[in-house]
Amino acid sequence: MKLENQGAKPTGTIGKIIGRLMNKFHTSLYTSYLNTKDIPDNYRILDIGCGGGKFLNYLSQRSDGFILWGLDHSKEMIDLSGQLNREDLKKGRLKLLKGSVHKIDIANNSLDLVTAFETIQFWPDIDIALSEVFRILDKEGKFLIINRYPKKGTKWWKMANIKSEEDYKTKLENVGFCNVSIDLNFKNGWIITEGEK
Ligand SMILES: C[S@@+](CC[C@H](N)C(=O)[O-])C[C@H]1O[C@@H](n2cnc3c(N)ncnc32)[C@H](O)[C@@H]1O
Repeated sequence: MKLENQGAKPTGTIGKIIGRLMNKFHTSLYTSYLNTKDIPDNYRILDIGCGGGKFLNYLSQRSDGFILWGLDHSKEMIDLSGQLNREDLKKGRLKLLKGSVHKIDIANNSLDLVTAFETIQFWPDIDIALSEVFRILDKEGKFLIINRYPKKGTKWWKMANIKSEEDYKTKLENVGFCNVSIDLNFKNGWIITEGEK
């Protein structure tokens, strides 16, 4: 299986190794950004494409009050996330959903924050997926996307289903998000997008 396919759905033994590597190398960017933000203690938070579950682990340690969900369509990633966050699963403050972003098993208006890190480029229908995120967020709920922002013409740029700053803004606004903001300066080569319901 090609590396980009393993990124899209980490599978088998190699997928598990990739999940552990993502836990080790991906999460510090997300946490350094989130550490600059206030997140109220009672927030209900979903991480889409949760991979090996390290970001969920950060949230769990950040506040006892958060109620957490992780979603991934890879069984191996759900298993890894479960191993890393065993205590929260047992306590019932974390639910792990194995499934697609196109049909999320969460009721309307249920969440305060949805995060998606290094995953949207793999979503086959970005418009349906964004509508799902909008549906499950509560009024004034926030959506945070952190993604690589590849240079025009590169392989990763060709793969991306949202290619430009304007695309991010338009696609989020088209499904109803407001106050969409874009940060290209936090880390070179990355784009951070936030929208509000
Ligand atoms: C490159 S990994 C990033 C994982 C984690 N967010 C991180 O940054 O370490 C992308 C993740 O998104 C998941 N994913 C991709 N497409 C998905 C979809 N349509 N529905 C649910 N999960 C998806 C993959 O299984 C994979 O775990």
